[in-house]
Amino acid sequence: MRCVVYNTHQVAEMAGIHKDTLLRWLREGRLPEPHRDRNGWRVFTPEEAEQVVQYANGSLMVPPKKINESLIFYDLRLPYADSIPRLERLEWDFVNTNTGYLTHSLHPYPAKFIPQIPNALIQELSSFEETVLDPFCGSGTTLVEARRLGRNAIGLDANPLACLISRAKAGGIGELDAEILRELAVEVERIAQATSIGRLPLFPDLPAFPGASHRHTFEGIEEWFDEHVIDELSFIKEKCLALTESKARQLALVAFSAIIVTVSRQDSDTRYVRREKNIKPGDTLQLFSRTLAQAIQYALEFSREIDSKLTTQVYEANILDGPEIGPVDLVICSPPYPNAYSYHLYHRTRMLWLEMDQPKFKRQEIGSHRKYSSKGVNAATVETFQAELHTILTWLKRQLRPNRHACFVIGDSIIKGETIKNDELLSEVAVEVGFQVEANINRQLQATKKYFNPKIGKIRDEHIVILRNSEVGDDGRL
Ligand SMILES: C[S@@+](CC[C@H](N)C(=O)[O-])C[C@H]1O[C@@H](n2cnc3c(N)ncnc32)[C@H](O)[C@@H]1O
Repeated sequence: MRCVVYNTHQVAEMAGIHKDTLLRWLREGRLPEPHRDRNGWRVFTPEEAEQVVQYANGSLMVPPKKINESLIFYDLRLPYADSIPRLERLEWDFVNTNTGYLTHSLHPYPAKFIPQIPNALIQELSSFEETVLDPFCGSGTTLVEARRLGRNAIGLDANPLACLISRAKAGGIGELDAEILRELAVEVERIAQATSIGRLPLFPDLPAFPGASHRHTFEGIEEWFDEHVIDELSFIKEKCLALTESKARQLALVAFSAIIVTVSRQDSDTRYVRREKNIKPGDTLQLFSRTLAQAIQYALEFSREIDSKLTTQVYEANILDGPEIGPVDLVICSPPYPNAYSYHLYHRTRMLWLEMDQPKFKRQEIGSHRKYSSKGVNAATVETFQAELHTILTWLKRQLRPNRHACFVIGDSIIKGETIKNDELLSEVAVEVGFQVEANINRQLQATKKYFNPKIGKIRDEHIVILRNSEVGDDGRL
């Protein structure tokens, strides 16, 4: 039989509450669970919807009894169909919004997207306790927002540094980890003081700088770091690696990695030129101690917000190898695309300090400037990227549940002087492999944003392409 039913979004809207609030009330048993349709989606009868409205208005003090036990409902609508127009109407520029809250500002990362983007998509296109995947998780922005919103988070990235940062940012820490890390921050701060005042006899209680048992080295290290900075970084690294609790160790290593460019002779994270910075003995230790203290604070605040029953998993893998990780309910990512960035270059110094396999990541990295600007027959072209998109989307279709969404935040590329509309390229390939393009939203980038290398091209806007995993044989049509 067919009858009028409402979905969770509609009922929440009628009641003037957020969908997540309604789901929480249902979970807490404040309102009876409605029936589910054959896709597992909640469907409310008009009476049940009315009860929610009354409960939200406070006119229904006692939760109502379950009604209509025996009715069977058929909801012919696709899941989250109402969300797409709402997403299209949203103001995506997010001018002057705070983007560095909780763990988001723990570590610099190029071209990370602002948390408000995955936040809006997760709220609109998934439900509590479902699983959100970011297959190019970078610094973990999607994963942090997924956990804050009560979803499981899965991240994947070929860059081992990205995986370390994502785990630290979206994994949370416990009080014991925080205590261990506070002790480390205090110990390093005391040694920093002794080191900076040259161990004067006036302060006999201050511990002397003991140095590291192994002075770290790699080719060119002395060109980029002062000798005393190498000593202090080697000492800090040893201290971090000696931590036996994995979450504490991860967060300490992220704080260590975060300060490396600041104490080097590299001008800044985005400028590779040399500049003398007059880093004094003790400065590196002190900067680490303060960065770590701040990181503990952010990680604890984040941990208090998340539900410990849910999980964060991060896989270090080349997406083109097609690792099996699904099924997932929603995919959100900003993929690498031609000439936008060279992550292996940006992270080189940090990866050398952390003894990560930088050459392997360099070989695997999609879209890197090095591959697209090289001359000769092996140079990557737009066809290279198109073929990679085909592999990625075919893989993604296997990981994503039917009729659920995959969202790509993507800008244009300039390859050998020619502008490539990546949103169009992505949409074409997506339809070929069996996705439906549900929306293509244009988003202006803030004029001040140093998004890309100006020599390659200035990108002023980007697209949010929303795909739906159509059922097999759907041919990209509803
Ligand atoms: C635009 S960034 C993602 C940034 C992320 N949204 C954030 O907020 O931090 C793209 C990511 O794709 C990753 N990547 C590049 N090639 C890859 C590959 N073959 N497999 C998996 N990840 C890859 C890069 O390491 C980079 O972290």
